[in-house]
Amino acid sequence: MTVTAVVGAQWGDEGKGRVIDYLASRADVVVRFQGGDNAGHTVVNDLGRFALHLIPCGIFSGARCLLGAGTVVNLDTVSEELTMLQAAGVNTANFWIDRRAHLIWPYHRLLDGAEEERRKRQAGDAPGAEEMGTTKRGIGPVYADKHAYNGIRAGDLHHPDLLRGRLELILPLKNRELAFYGLRQVTVEEMMHLAERWRQEHGQRIVDTLPLVRDAVLQGRDLLLEGQLGVGRDINWGIYPFSTASSPTAGGACTGSGVPPRALDEVLGVVKAYSTSVGGGPFPTELHDEYGTMLQEIGREFGATTGRPRRCGWLDGVSLGYASWINGFTGIAVTKLDILDVLDHVQICTGYRLGDQILDHVPDTVTQGLVEPVYESWPGWQVDTSGCRSWDELPAAARAYLGRISELAAAPIRFVSVGPERSQIIVR
Ligand code: GDP
Ligand code: IMO
Ligand code: MG
Repeated sequence: MTVTAVVGAQWGDEGKGRVIDYLASRADVVVRFQGGDNAGHTVVNDLGRFALHLIPCGIFSGARCLLGAGTVVNLDTVSEELTMLQAAGVNTANFWIDRRAHLIWPYHRLLDGAEEERRKRQAGDAPGAEEMGTTKRGIGPVYADKHAYNGIRAGDLHHPDLLRGRLELILPLKNRELAFYGLRQVTVEEMMHLAERWRQEHGQRIVDTLPLVRDAVLQGRDLLLEGQLGVGRDINWGIYPFSTASSPTAGGACTGSGVPPRALDEVLGVVKAYSTSVGGGPFPTELHDEYGTMLQEIGREFGATTGRPRRCGWLDGVSLGYASWINGFTGIAVTKLDILDVLDHVQICTGYRLGDQILDHVPDTVTQGLVEPVYESWPGWQVDTSGCRSWDELPAAARAYLGRISELAAAPIRFVSVGPERSQIIVR
């Protein structure tokens, strides 16, 4: 019985959804602890293929699924996702939202989109004004309001008078911002109307989740803490400002779910066998050659939320070591090994060259944009691994490559995923 945080070790889209879906069969509780519907977690199982943005990927296994206090919630996305899941025959009765989670209002999305457009117009004018490439789901603006004490929490829907007071306080500020971008003003009445619809649709799911989490931990049940994105875009440790607005790390897992740090038994880093990144910012191992195209095409690397093509590159061992330190990985799950099957060789970055220096550590964002990767080359295996179900069935060259990943991540390999389906996994 364990409490396990499952976190992205790179820049997101490592296959966390796939890993959670696999592990959830033995989990009692699955908690999303940060982020919002910027996530796109793909699950392929007996019930179909799903891209979940908010509802935890444990929903298919009957686990109790929670959106923790650290998340930001667009209740319209929740409605869409529940409808989609229910149509596929999934039981959604065990899905709950913490009353402390902040609500994403339509103005957050509008402001995110408008700010992206402004950055796009200014991009190139000066360093520091580059386009961010956010998912335009309102994530930056809603966390900004949360931290400026101008947020509205899910539980506020249960208190219409308090909610009206909050809106009267906050909307004049939001309207100033909307006016700055030439966007339509919002009124208290409009937002109260929306809030009433949300309350009717989801009010009974908005609860205090802490007693559920606390009791599950105290009773020794299996908990999974589901991360969104990866440490590469963490608000503190990622490539700020090309980051997200929360902490998708093991630390964030505790603060966002209500699990005390000492109750965390395992931190499972999900590592894609190569690198991808969606959005702006430095990406030292990015490939612009035929190998990049192969990874993109064979790996079908398109964003699950925005459909944007993902930037692709070789595995970055420097950032993996950094991710391991920040998170304290107790194990890793390597995904998408099968995508490398056809390659004649694979490369791993083990250092960053900066002038005549070799860095073995992730520097600040500006410096990271200047470094050249130092690579090790590993022989390819050119064998189809998608049918392998045990470590010993894997070709020796693939095992050697995985061994090196484990060394760089300073953690043992617990799982190797060789396909998107629930069963296509090797347990070590
Ligand atoms: P997440 O955001 O970390 O959950 O990852 P995404 O769902 O955004 O992206 C991972 C993609 O890779 C999805 O399309 C998955 O179905 C797919 N996937 C996950 N693991 C594997 C694997 O081992 N092999 C293959 N071929 N696809 C995988
Ligand atoms: P999952 O959970 C990949 C990226 C965006 C952008 C930056 C900030 O599926 O791994 P935001 O909308 O959060 O303000 O965007 O973060 N980003 C993701 N990239 N996977 C995600 O989620 C992402 N969520 C945000 O592309 O660069
Ligand atoms: Mg994703």
